[in-house]
Amino acid sequence: MRAERLGEFRSRFGGLPEVDARAPGRVNLIGEHTDYNGGLVLPCAIDLDTRVLLRARADGTVRVFSREFREEQSFEASAPALRGGWVDYVQGVFAALREHGVTAGGFDIAIESDVPPGAGLSSSAALELALLTAIDRRLELGLAPERRCELAHVAEVSFVGVPCGIMDQWAVGLARRDTLLRIDCHTRSVRRVAFPSECVALLIADSGVRRALSQGGLAKRSSECAEVLEIARRAGALSAAASGLCALDPEALAELAPLLSPQLRRRARHVTSENRRVEATCDALEAGDFDAAGEALREGMRSLREDFEVSTPELDHLCASGDAAPGVYGSRLTGAGFGGCSIHLVEPRSACDAADFIASGFESEFGRRPRIQLVSPADGASATTMPG
Ligand code: GLA
Repeated sequence: MRAERLGEFRSRFGGLPEVDARAPGRVNLIGEHTDYNGGLVLPCAIDLDTRVLLRARADGTVRVFSREFREEQSFEASAPALRGGWVDYVQGVFAALREHGVTAGGFDIAIESDVPPGAGLSSSAALELALLTAIDRRLELGLAPERRCELAHVAEVSFVGVPCGIMDQWAVGLARRDTLLRIDCHTRSVRRVAFPSECVALLIADSGVRRALSQGGLAKRSSECAEVLEIARRAGALSAAASGLCALDPEALAELAPLLSPQLRRRARHVTSENRRVEATCDALEAGDFDAAGEALREGMRSLREDFEVSTPELDHLCASGDAAPGVYGSRLTGAGFGGCSIHLVEPRSACDAADFIASGFESEFGRRPRIQLVSPADGASATTMPG
């Protein structure tokens, strides 16, 4: 496979790559729509990768080939300009580097990925970080991993225009094998929580419903949350210095309720309760209490479905049948919602039966079999220099 990629790179670009980099997709165990509200999240990277082969060019042109899209595009490293489509994530990295004072010249780049786009597994963060890690290595910039995460986030928010929080880039950039990352998205501090693979496993099921993050759902929810925050600040329920909506406690929320429409009340209730579920899940995992962790996941799904309203009939079905499947502790949608994947915390020895059960139930309802995979918490982005 690797030889094939190298051969393809050489025939397309007329020379061998200098750097081989990879970055994983991610799932979030719990803590959904809390990151842009200054709260807690609990993601891990998964063992599906985006890989980048790269070599520097003498001029300022960036030529980039995507194996998935079977398409090559090019742009000037000094003048990235939004054009729509996958290449904007590549251009965004160059724009973010420029903002950081790095004038990167031209490159030949080949991208290949196992992370399905639009499935809620952060294919865009995987691409941004694989690329940044490759450029960092090639130009010997010596960027700290956290700095690479920040630059990837700038690429996504400022250049591509997705109003996302920091979870995806931090998870993809900083993840380690066998651990979940408890990230405080306000302070940006990270605590590693061991994932006890001998006792529990993670299944992801792809609903097959695709979504484009830059249009619609996430932007709508983030502006609703901003509206609640503004009302809470004006009412004195939160100080101007408070980290965000997640800092609102249940009592303050109850006092604020009369000032909010029923819809905004539900949005705020999801955000504040979800933050507590992240803590409860960390405690439960650390205590080896997987029933309690599963309960937090199930309650999180109910909240996403009823209060935050980001689920779909397909995701509802996957999670309901997951919860009825043998050996499953709890299920929920993962990522922004509006399509994408569900995640199921399951006893390792029941994982195959549970996957079968979930897939069969889905097939009889929707007439197609969903892709279900067992994933393990994996290492974050990395790069190697190719022997010259
Ligand atoms: C998307 C965003 C993240 C986060 C999740 C919801 O994945 O990119 O920043 O907001 O949705 O938790």
